[in-house]
Amino acid sequence: MVILSVPGLNARLAFAISAAAFGSAFQHGYNLGVINAPLKLMGQWMNETNYERTEEYLTDGQKTMILSIMVSIYCVGGMIGGSLTGVFAERFGRKGGLLLNNIFAIVAAILFGFCKLAGSYEMLVAGRLVIGINNGLNAGLCPMYLSEIAPVNLRGAIGTAYQLVLTISILISQIMGLENILGTEELWPVALALTGIPAIFQLLTLPVCPESPKFLLITKDEPVAAQRALTWLRNTTNVQDEMGEMRNEAEASKLVPSVSLREITTNPTLRIPLIISMMMMIAQQLSGINAVIFFSTEIYKSAGLDDEASLNATIAMGTMNVLMTFASLVMVEKFGRKTLMLAGLSGMLVDVFLLFICLLVNQGETEANWISFASIFLVIFFVVMFATGPGSIPWFFVTELFAQNARPTASSIAVAINWTAAFLVGLGFLPLAQALGAYVFLIFVVLLILFIIFTWFKVPETKGRTIDEITAMFKQKAYGGNSV
Ligand SMILES: *[C@@H]1O[C@H](CO)[C@@H](O)[C@H](O)[C@H]1NC(C)=O
Repeated sequence: MVILSVPGLNARLAFAISAAAFGSAFQHGYNLGVINAPLKLMGQWMNETNYERTEEYLTDGQKTMILSIMVSIYCVGGMIGGSLTGVFAERFGRKGGLLLNNIFAIVAAILFGFCKLAGSYEMLVAGRLVIGINNGLNAGLCPMYLSEIAPVNLRGAIGTAYQLVLTISILISQIMGLENILGTEELWPVALALTGIPAIFQLLTLPVCPESPKFLLITKDEPVAAQRALTWLRNTTNVQDEMGEMRNEAEASKLVPSVSLREITTNPTLRIPLIISMMMMIAQQLSGINAVIFFSTEIYKSAGLDDEASLNATIAMGTMNVLMTFASLVMVEKFGRKTLMLAGLSGMLVDVFLLFICLLVNQGETEANWISFASIFLVIFFVVMFATGPGSIPWFFVTELFAQNARPTASSIAVAINWTAAFLVGLGFLPLAQALGAYVFLIFVVLLILFIIFTWFKVPETKGRTIDEITAMFKQKAYGGNSV
């Protein structure tokens, strides 16, 4: 148990992190990946179901439409869930909100599990919407809970746990979706319904853990409960310093107990960190990660990999993603958020440019050659660079830039923006790729340059700083006339 010798980490805190992250981030990653493998089977089933109902087969257009709705309605759910983060976090608390959110996951699991028996693809589509809402809420609530229970020196590492579990669950969903496991005609509804398991796990484990002490003290004004929660999490009664810090934050937010949407967009001390959080989320989604993953299948094929070898390459890519995210969990406290974000984005920029050149040179080439193998290397390296920073940092960065009273509203906006960006990429990428071919990568070259410039000039380092110090810095910036 090397991990338990980290200063600030103890078994109870590790338990709380696991309860929150495995119950929440797991849902998010799993549902991102689980429908890829059985997509074709689902299409066939929809076609047959329609025949049984109406004695007419679906046309190609109809089938594609139902499938695209099923894929994209998930992001719509995410936008809804993301926007609800603030309301849930304030009304039910961080822990309470997370627990309640499992209802959505269980409803979705039931819809998935019985859609085939009931002969209803409407249930499948509804399930995707409902699990999207669950995932959106998780993406807002879980990093918030993690960051609020973390000691300052581990806030980044604990925040990264969200993305770590997410990458693990993407990998598991890819493996589960494999034809010989759950990607069969009979079993794909089971693969989807497994999303109920992390919900049950969380319902069994999270109730043992305390509510966020910051929520108890600053939002609810319950100092005794807050101290009890902190004592549990730190596994020591010596929590005076941290209680003092939280009281400072509480004092500062006494005047405005809860920041509204209007306030956050008009008050410059809040608008600057809001724009930064939104840009980090946009950078994550528009960095080209989905484009590279999309092209990876084609790249593997052109390198002469058969179906099985491509699948193995995909799983290798997922494994690298997990390993590198784990490495970033350690690095984020050593090198800081800004450095890792810049390093990741810069690596992606160089990589995507080289990948573009490789694809251009290799166009029309049918024989596998060293360029195709270089392309495989570049695809995997791109994922590694993504995992270095842009994959994990945006999720928890928003929780670091705001004091307690503005955090829920800010998270709502930032998480909703993330899902909107994912939705737009999902909608727009394929037509663009079909129209532009490899040149579509140039769009990401330009975007990455913009994100690097923005991060370099506007994003502050938050490593090792208390929330009080961070918000004070934005106050100074806003009134120093240096606005975004
Ligand atoms: C639906 O199934 C029928 C019968 O198997 C097949 O001929 C038709 O091509 C299918 N339609 C689509 C859109 O897949």
